[in-house]
Amino acid sequence: MGNDSLIGREEPGKLRISDVSKTFTGGIQNLAALEKVSMEIDEGDFVCILGPSGCGKTTLLRCVAGLEKPDSGEIVLGETPVRGPGPDRIVVFQDFDQLLPWKTVKENVAFPLKVNKKASEKEIRDTVKQNLALVGLNEFENYYPHQLSGGMKQRAAIARALTVHPKVLLMDEPFASVDSLTRMSLQNELIKIWEKFHPTIVFITHNVEEAVILGSRIAVMSSRPGTIKKVITNELPRPRTVGSAGFSEKWNELNNLLVNN
Ligand SMILES: Nc1ncnc2c1ncn2[C@@H]1O[C@H](COP(=O)(O)OP(=O)(O)OP(=O)(O)O)[C@@H](O)[C@H]1O
Ligand SMILES: [Mg+2]
Repeated sequence: MGNDSLIGREEPGKLRISDVSKTFTGGIQNLAALEKVSMEIDEGDFVCILGPSGCGKTTLLRCVAGLEKPDSGEIVLGETPVRGPGPDRIVVFQDFDQLLPWKTVKENVAFPLKVNKKASEKEIRDTVKQNLALVGLNEFENYYPHQLSGGMKQRAAIARALTVHPKVLLMDEPFASVDSLTRMSLQNELIKIWEKFHPTIVFITHNVEEAVILGSRIAVMSSRPGTIKKVITNELPRPRTVGSAGFSEKWNELNNLLVNN
């Protein structure tokens, strides 16, 4: 591990990733994707992960989500080892097609609550309304996914992820495929959501600028098999812009780490 600032204080919602390794077998060759990745993320932290293409970022996120099983090592949220997917860890992907195409925006956002059957109809209606307001989609609640832009689909996916109040929001390049203006507004909305609810956010991006705008800490991974090369703390005051004092220094530091990978 490149930096001991990852070791935080003991907290009930801390995410601990310890010595996680993962090799994919069964293809043309065995492919070591992750090698002894260790990282501790405090409850409510906003961590961005940067790394070269193919270094195992998505694999790591999928392991935390419980969608992939590490070969060795352990992932623990609070006191509970991750053994599979759960409503405490929700993923928002890059893919615009993560919504159910036969359901409206409103129905997509309500879906996780309908599935776990714990909320009343009124609670579901109120939650959906609140979450759509958070991402500015109220007017489009009756639209189907194919009637939305890419940015709107990502907004709906975020609103849906929030319905179950996940402890950890796992985001895999969620804004990579939208135009730069939409990206900026999505970033601002995400920061507002984080400041309001303080979920732990693990956010993968290829974009150094985005990592500096969003992350409280930024982890840089080495090329495959991925390890954590270094973690930097980003204390630039929010709201941040590319013109903020200290922004370019952080950008340069991260860019150098990535270039010399
Ligand atoms: N299901 C799988 N089966 C076999 N190999 C896989 C599988 N998933 C990922 N890999 C391999 O593991 C390595 C890491 O992939 P991963 O998708 O985690 O990288 P990444 O860092 O997210 O890349 P990118 O930045 O391009 O999204 C790659 O070499 C990939 O080919
Ligand atoms: Mg990926």
